Amino acid sequence: MSSELVTTALATGAKAGAAGADRKSHTPLPNIKEWLQFSGWLQYLPSFVIAGILTLIGLPFHFIALMPIAWVFYALAILFAARGLFDLAVIKFRLFSLPEPAPVPIAGDALDVIRARRSCRSFQAHPLSKDHRALVDACVAHHTALDCAEALTQGEVRAVYVAAPLRVWPSVNAREFLVVLGPADDDRAAVIEAGRAMQSVVLDLTAAGIATCWIGPGADQRSVEDALGDRFDPTRDQVLCVIAIGYASRYWPLMTRVMKRAMAKRKPLNDLIYDEVPGLPAPLTKKPYKHLKPAFKAVQKAPSSYNGQTTRLILSREDDRLRIARFATEEGSRYSGPMALGIWTANWSRAMHALGHDGRFVLKKNPQPMALGLVRDVDWLPNKPA
Ligand SMILES: Cc1cc2nc3c(=O)[nH]c(=O)nc-3n(C[C@H](O)[C@H](O)[C@H](O)COP(=O)(O)O)c2cc1C
Repeated sequence: MSSELVTTALATGAKAGAAGADRKSHTPLPNIKEWLQFSGWLQYLPSFVIAGILTLIGLPFHFIALMPIAWVFYALAILFAARGLFDLAVIKFRLFSLPEPAPVPIAGDALDVIRARRSCRSFQAHPLSKDHRALVDACVAHHTALDCAEALTQGEVRAVYVAAPLRVWPSVNAREFLVVLGPADDDRAAVIEAGRAMQSVVLDLTAAGIATCWIGPGADQRSVEDALGDRFDPTRDQVLCVIAIGYASRYWPLMTRVMKRAMAKRKPLNDLIYDEVPGLPAPLTKKPYKHLKPAFKAVQKAPSSYNGQTTRLILSREDDRLRIARFATEEGSRYSGPMALGIWTANWSRAMHALGHDGRFVLKKNPQPMALGLVRDVDWLPNKPA
């Protein structure tokens, strides 16, 4: 295990996944928030806290006999409390079950699948069907195979299926996971490859109607290691992150729904896609970029830890043709940045393939410094100028 992870473990009392190690907490004791997070209660608390605050705001109006105003606040408080109780009854305690949607495969091409993928933070009770379980195994086997043609580096990444209620945040009712393992010693190439391989798995599962959620900082590593048992060897392995898999529920705790909205916004393409040098927005309305816009949107839609969106694409053209696409990330991150970059490569190659352009990736041995505090890890070269 890396020293970064050990430090995190000691500092917080509950280890974050390696992807979370970029965001270390230095709280000396296990804190209440962390306990609430991993106990699975924090998602439900805000509705009741808001109800309490609204009641407190209504009270002064009550005392000065402005009853209509007081009742507006009381009514809102009742609505929030009712929502909190509903979430507890239906989602946490499953006191009764309400109709849930059946999984629907995505009709369309790779671009439609990339557009349709979203982090799922509330899962249905029933496990994956036999066919879907077999699909998960097949996708993992294919994308992490030693001879996987798309692999950026060979043999460094494993993904282990685990059926156990791992302690994760803020997803609720996730009971099936892929635990993504890399080498025990820090290995940037393996982290990038984990991003590529597992995003390829995620997209294949999305296409079949299976919901997923990448979880790095939100995974309690101790529960992950316990669930892995002897499939985890700390002298050989490092948990990079987990991916929750299952069927998406229609019912989400209010707070989780709000978080989803808040963390779904994307930076504009001008801030992500550069022309020749970092910082110079690519002219996306001009040749050759105009026709490649769906691929730019595909990388813009890629998931990233805390929606950090740390990856950038620096393009070069020649005679109105794309000659090279350089994938860069913010300097200094050892996990979430390289992993997000790997995820971009998966979205990019699928989108470009859908647009009729294939190419090959070249992984740099060491990240190459660029302007604006970026480092370049991977180049994509089209087989034919795109
Ligand atoms: C490496 C990685 C780690 C992530 N960790 C978490 C996590 O711990 N908890 C969580 O709910 N979401 C996590 N996410 C999901 C992001 O928050 C999500 O991708 C982002 O907010 C964008 O939303 P979208 O995936 O719905 O497009 C992670 C994503 C990545 C790629």
